Amino acid sequence: MFKRVISIASALVISMSLLNAQDAIVRIHDAGTGEIIPADIYGQFSEHLGRCIYGGLWVGKDSSVPNVEGYRKDVFDALKALKVPVMRWPGGCFADDYHWMDGIGPQEKRAYISNNNWGGTLEDNSFGTHEFLNLCEMLDIEPYISGNVGSGTVKEMAEWVEYMTSDAKSTMADLRRANGREEPWKVKFFGIGNEAWGCGGSMTPEYYSDLFRQYQTYLRNFGSNRLYKIASGASDYDYNWTEVLMKNLTGKGMKGISLHYYTVISWGRKGAATGFDEAGYYRILSKAIEIEPVLAKHIEIMDKYDPRGNVDLLLDEWGTWYDVEPGTNPGHLYQQNTMRDAIVAALNFDIFHKYTRRLKMANIAQVVNVLQAMILTNDTQMVLTPTYHVFEMYNVHQDAEYLASDCITNKIKTDRELVPEVDVTASRKDGKTHISLVNTHYDEAKTVLVSFDNAKAISKINSARVLTSAKPGDYNDFDKPEVVAPKAFKNYKKTSAGIEITLPPCSIVAIEAE
Ligand code: AHR
Repeated sequence: MFKRVISIASALVISMSLLNAQDAIVRIHDAGTGEIIPADIYGQFSEHLGRCIYGGLWVGKDSSVPNVEGYRKDVFDALKALKVPVMRWPGGCFADDYHWMDGIGPQEKRAYISNNNWGGTLEDNSFGTHEFLNLCEMLDIEPYISGNVGSGTVKEMAEWVEYMTSDAKSTMADLRRANGREEPWKVKFFGIGNEAWGCGGSMTPEYYSDLFRQYQTYLRNFGSNRLYKIASGASDYDYNWTEVLMKNLTGKGMKGISLHYYTVISWGRKGAATGFDEAGYYRILSKAIEIEPVLAKHIEIMDKYDPRGNVDLLLDEWGTWYDVEPGTNPGHLYQQNTMRDAIVAALNFDIFHKYTRRLKMANIAQVVNVLQAMILTNDTQMVLTPTYHVFEMYNVHQDAEYLASDCITNKIKTDRELVPEVDVTASRKDGKTHISLVNTHYDEAKTVLVSFDNAKAISKINSARVLTSAKPGDYNDFDKPEVVAPKAFKNYKKTSAGIEITLPPCSIVAIEAE
């Protein structure tokens, strides 16, 4: 059912005889681009949704689940190993229902709330501003706070900023001190609302633009803290939203504009996270890579209003979205995570690396137990998902110099975007070159020659790892947590032409060379 077509990247001049010997040919332009891949595109998103916060990040100090000051120890350690650069909180849709004063002060006195966006679940607010910002501090993560425009007030938002960041003598700073935190935190990223076109207030872009201007006026820089204010941006193909905001808000305090893009086939019939067939596999991959023209189009609009590139694009929600696992609360968005999700993550990063001129942050939805999660928990048990492993294998690209590359590869024809059989991204840091390769093919291994503009670009290969499994639908579960995990990879050889590699079916290979 899937037809293959050959695509030849125009910049690559390689004899067809070489292609005949290999399934794909990669050329890495090792002279470099001078562009640094922002670490923040490896960002996370944590919302009060299902078991992301409660049971995921936070169990409380008195829990029988081993914890570090109330944070689950296993999750805490896994996030530390991941080198998370930035994390968004408290939502999502929840942000525009959240009143931050409910989540400060003695835990036993905090207000109970019903999480009306996500299943009406009762929350005790034991995880609030202090708990989030302290977690970020302990894990060296840059916090990204989403403020409440939809049901909040200018005063409430302005006071939150003051509470978190003021080092002066003031009512809010004194309240923070009374709650046990003497020094202000550093908070750079601040989102003014979330999905203002939908759960954040059902607004028009014109109305939201005016509100943004009003709110941002009162979000002040206290002491040495400098806020980076983010406008609630478009979803997917809503180019008009970006157009109106760029027109109205460029030069008006907007440092970043967000974008949300989910890999979902249809909101009415999302399909299951597991148990898919070959057609279902490629359908998801093709929808995932459709993000590239979407990014390109939003950036084109931004370039029109902001040719100097003063406003950044932040993809602060992305990832796969399937039906919830059978028997779980439909409002909790709990889904499994297979090798297919790992390939989605890798293809997304390969795309993000190409657009960092404008794209400065991305936050996958979400960090624990929700949507395309890094980590799943079940009472005292925890598993790392295939997506976690991709984030870990790719974190070498954070803050590295992007190396442009071309790839001659067959493409799989689907009813949407053509899916390349082989995909690549590369970067260099501290004299080491990192090459990440993806074989998207459902069940065939692919041979690849990785060549360099300068034949002497690398002299040796330091290490190689592979993430793969017997079937694309394989996943890690609590009784089998290591089905999909990175392993040492040996199926390559360095030749005078470059590196010859055989990629297993549905796999991701990470090579370090120098
Ligand atoms: O990530 C889940 C939800 O998706 C977020 O709360 C919302 O912003 C988006 O619609």
